[in-house]
Amino acid sequence: MYNVRKVTEDLFWVGANDHRLHLFENIHPIPRGVSYNAYVLTDEQTVLFDTVDWSACRQLLENLDHVLAGRPLDYLVIHHMEPDHGASIQEILLRYPQVKVISSAKAFTMMKQFGFSTGDHECVEVKEGSTLSFGKHSLTFLSAPMVHWPEVLVSLDTTNGALFSADAFGSFGALDGALFADEVNFDRDWIDDARRYYTNIVGKYGPQVQALLKKASGLLDQIKFICPLHGPVWRENLSYFVEKHDLWSRYEPEDRGVLIAYASMYGNTEEAAQGLATRLYERGVKNVVVHDVSNSHVSYLIADAFRLSHIVLASVTYNLGIYPVMHNFISDMKALNLQNRTVGLIENGTWAIKSGELMQKELEGMKNMTVLPDKLTLTSSLPAERACDLDAFADALAASVKG
Ligand SMILES: Cc1cc2nc3c(=O)[nH]c(=O)nc-3n(C[C@H](O)[C@H](O)[C@H](O)COP(=O)(O)O)c2cc1C
Ligand SMILES: [Fe+2]
Ligand SMILES: [Fe+2]
Repeated sequence: MYNVRKVTEDLFWVGANDHRLHLFENIHPIPRGVSYNAYVLTDEQTVLFDTVDWSACRQLLENLDHVLAGRPLDYLVIHHMEPDHGASIQEILLRYPQVKVISSAKAFTMMKQFGFSTGDHECVEVKEGSTLSFGKHSLTFLSAPMVHWPEVLVSLDTTNGALFSADAFGSFGALDGALFADEVNFDRDWIDDARRYYTNIVGKYGPQVQALLKKASGLLDQIKFICPLHGPVWRENLSYFVEKHDLWSRYEPEDRGVLIAYASMYGNTEEAAQGLATRLYERGVKNVVVHDVSNSHVSYLIADAFRLSHIVLASVTYNLGIYPVMHNFISDMKALNLQNRTVGLIENGTWAIKSGELMQKELEGMKNMTVLPDKLTLTSSLPAERACDLDAFADALAASVKG
C-alpha cells in the first residue's frame, strides 16, 4: 500500500518510516524510529530525489508507482550516496530502464564502489552552480562537502523554493504521518532528537555546515521549504531550525546550564554528582542535567554536551585510568570537535587517584575547553564533614554559569 504526502504543487514525499531499526548506523539508539525521505517532482519530466534504505525499498517503489501513475521516471537525483539513501538505486535503475541519473562525480564513483552499475543509463554529472530544468521547475546545485560525506550535493528548486538539503536539517524520529515540522510540537517533541541526530552524525563538521549555511544565506529569501533526508519538512519558521544549526555548527551552547556526567561503580561518585546537582539548583542554576555514563547512551551525552555551556565530569579511577565508559564519552566529544565549554572535574579512587589528572589531560587536547581550577577529589567517598568542599565546588560552578 502506498503512503505518500504532497509537499507542494508537483512535489511529493515518497519516503518511508522505520521503527524496526534499533541502532542508526548500528551505533545510535533511535527509540522513536527514523524516516528515510525521498521526494518526487512531477513536472514535464519526472524526477525522483534520492532513494531509501534497502529495508524500505518496497515502500518507496509502491509510493513511486502511485505518484507517477503510469508516467515514466525521467530522472533520479542522488544527493548523498550513504546507503540509508542510496541502497535502493539499483532497484530504481532496473525498474525504470530509461531513467537518467544526476549526481556529483564523487557520488558516481561511490556508486561503483558500492556495487551499483548505471549500465546504459545516461549519467549527468553536476557540481556547484549546475542548473537543470525539468519543465516549469529548475534546479540549482550546491556542493556540501562533508555535510555528512564528501560527495554531498544539495539542490534548490528555484521555482517553488524547495531546498533538498540531504542529511543537513535532518532528525531522528519516524514521521508517522506528520510530514511537516509545523504539524508537530517540534520544540517540545522533536528538538532533542534533532539535536542528537545533528551532533552525533554531523557534529564533527561544524566548519563545513557553516560553509553551507553561508551559501544558503544568499538564497534565504528563495527558500520556502527545507526537504531533508530524515525527519520533518520545514515550510514555516525556517529560521528557528537554521539558527539552531548555526549555534551547533559554531559549537556555541544553546542554554547556560550544566551537564553532570558521572561514572560510578559503588555509588559514591554518584552521590557527589547528585549532591552537586541539588546545590546548583539551590544556587539558582537552571538546566542541570545528570547522566550516569553507564546508563545513558553516549549519543545523549553528546547532545547535552552540545546544548549546555558547562560540563562536569565525575569519574572513578579504574586500573590507574579513567573509567572506560567515561573515557569513551570524552573521546567522542573530542572526535566530534566539541569546543568552547567550561568543565569541572570530580575524581575518585581508593588507593591511587588518577582520573582527574587524566581527564584534564584529555580536555587539554580539545579546543577552547576551560577547566575550572579546583577539582574535587574523593578518597572512596565524600563524608558529610566534607559537604563544605562540595558547596565550594558548586559555588564556583554556579558563579561561572551565571557569568
Ligand atoms: C577494576 C577496578 C579498578 C580500580 N582501579 C583503581 C585505581 O587504579 N586507583 C584507585 O584509586 N582506585 C581504583 N579502584 C577503586 C575505585 O576507583 C574506588 O573504590 C572508588 O572510590 C569507587 O567509587 P564509586 O563508589 O563511585 O564507584 C578500582 C576499582 C575497580 C573495580
Ligand atoms: Fe548520511
Ligand atoms: Fe542519512
